[in-house]
Amino acid sequence: MPDIVSLLKEKRTFQPSADFTSSANWNKKTTAEYRRLAARNPNRFWAKMAKENVSWFTPWKKVLDWKPPFAKWFVGGKLNISYNCLDRHLEGPNAWRRNKAAIIWEGEPGDSRVITYGELHREVCRFANVLKERGIKKGDRVALYMPMVPELAIAILACTRIGAVHSVVFGGFSAEALRERINDAGAKLVVTADGGYRRGEPNALKPAVDAALRRTPSVENVIVVKRTGEPTRMKKKRDHWWHELMEGASSRCAPAKLDSEHPLFILYTSGTTGKPKGILHTTGGYLTHVTTTSKVLFDLKDTDTYWCTADIGWITGHSYVVYGILANGATTLMYEGVPTHPGPDRFWDIIERWGVTIFYTAPTAIRTFVRLGDEHPKKHDLSSLRLLGTVGEPINPEAWMWYHRVIGGKRCPIVDTWWQTETGGIMITPLPASMPTKPGSATLPFPGIEAAIYDNDGREASASDGGFLVVRKPWPGMLRGIWGDPKRFVETYWSRYKNTYFTGDGAHRDSDGYFWIMGRVDDVMNISGHRIGTMEVESALVSHNKVAESAVVGRPDDLTGTAIVAFVTPKAGAKVSGAFAAQLRDHVAKQIGPIAKPKDIRFTDALPKTRSGKIMRRLLRDIASGKENIGDTTTLEDYSVIAALRSDDDS
Ligand code: PRX
Repeated sequence: MPDIVSLLKEKRTFQPSADFTSSANWNKKTTAEYRRLAARNPNRFWAKMAKENVSWFTPWKKVLDWKPPFAKWFVGGKLNISYNCLDRHLEGPNAWRRNKAAIIWEGEPGDSRVITYGELHREVCRFANVLKERGIKKGDRVALYMPMVPELAIAILACTRIGAVHSVVFGGFSAEALRERINDAGAKLVVTADGGYRRGEPNALKPAVDAALRRTPSVENVIVVKRTGEPTRMKKKRDHWWHELMEGASSRCAPAKLDSEHPLFILYTSGTTGKPKGILHTTGGYLTHVTTTSKVLFDLKDTDTYWCTADIGWITGHSYVVYGILANGATTLMYEGVPTHPGPDRFWDIIERWGVTIFYTAPTAIRTFVRLGDEHPKKHDLSSLRLLGTVGEPINPEAWMWYHRVIGGKRCPIVDTWWQTETGGIMITPLPASMPTKPGSATLPFPGIEAAIYDNDGREASASDGGFLVVRKPWPGMLRGIWGDPKRFVETYWSRYKNTYFTGDGAHRDSDGYFWIMGRVDDVMNISGHRIGTMEVESALVSHNKVAESAVVGRPDDLTGTAIVAFVTPKAGAKVSGAFAAQLRDHVAKQIGPIAKPKDIRFTDALPKTRSGKIMRRLLRDIASGKENIGDTTTLEDYSVIAALRSDDDS
């Protein structure tokens, strides 16, 4: 593929405040020292982090055993992650944390629970004993298909306590998707709930489990959390209520001493084929990566109340709702429901009531809030916030500015964190106390991460051209494989460039060396031989003061190869017309250049998104090109949007 041309230019920079810098976990001096060490010897840097931030039962003999593309970190070391997330906060100098909130949970209807480290330890031990009683042994797979309730975190930690491998399947997936994942992992036990709350209604989960389990020969037991209390069918012998099994379980359970490379979890993610990939992560390296990054770039302190809005069903929830945060002994907030129930200010209400200090969310959520209007956050006192983060997709500079201004009150550093299910932890990110940020840039690789941008031939791309984002050296949190498919692991990530991890993302660096992620390479269009990132056009559109959100896709065009189609959600009150579309085209031409002018602009009330908030580009591409087949839509959040877009098609 020829070079990816980048046309986006962003000149604004933001310095961290002296206040923030003076009390940060890593100040300018420490950061500079660590950067130097990591550049000279990344293994020594990671070994230092593993010693400082993780507790080991047995020290490792070798930091890294690298036989490309297979890495083993902290070889010979033994540890337990639940010990790191729980026990070590109850003993020695940290024993005071026994009565500190580990999890603050808020249900959508407004009910809440605060679980201390002492309580969480007891609950995890009890559930670990329940798992053992049900025949779960070290290495067995346990599927977790649950709403955002504390029991999900408890189940995760209970698995790690005994060395069982968890496979969390997002509660928004269908029965069929669940079945496929259970069978691929060969799970012996499923933990679920009767349901959870979404948009004010109980949303049943158990029927999907029943449907999935018609063809899952490996599953022997199902444990069901009672959350909604709705009538739920229980199958004799196979299904058990969580609370009944927990009643008789002992709250003592010694943590298993696990090898550093013991499998920790499998998490399925979509790839370029229809079959999801079971991304495998292991123990010591993963914990080192997520604990270190949590401490440094969220600047976690004992006084913080940290809230990451991701569902635990995704990697962000694994690494930065549960593991990285609890391993630091911080307070993590979990919220069950949708951001706009019962009103558009639910998130801001939560921040005010619980005094959230660190808030980590997705650009798509931010853009939704932009659209809903400033009056909702402005109704609330958000002065407890001291740091903001984003993850999951490129953030357009205007959404970044809004986040900075309206939510962060211009005082909070923003960490735009680039990473993937496969990378386990954050890879490219600002270190909030020690460097200027630029709206829309994930800035620089974390120390010890050697990210680069390659052209098609594996040469470092020039600054202005951009290219493919790669990682040249192994890192502790990297995936160890695709469950049951080593061939696909090698093909997907390691075959394009020798001994180098291929991320699948396009990016470029600016004159300061900052990285600008342009999205998946399959979302990059070729217009008359010019490569343009869909995100760049979207950014340009969203920078128009009447546009709330947009998604841009390519469609085949006889003349130019690909034509740009823009789906645009106007801000409330904007009048949709041909003149408005023409104005937007000119606006894009002004922001980027005439080459990036969308050929079609389609106005829509909302964009179709997966439950994790990702815009469904494949669907938009199909709609844009007029194909009937709209693919698998089981994860669609709002079917009405599709209906509207389709009827637009017919007209
Ligand atoms: O394209 C990048 C985008 O999300 C992809 C990874 O998706 P997933 O495995 O679901 O993990 C999401 C949460 C870590 C990446 O290949 N992405 C993630 N973070 C960013 C991003 N794109 C731009 N900027 C980011 N900060």
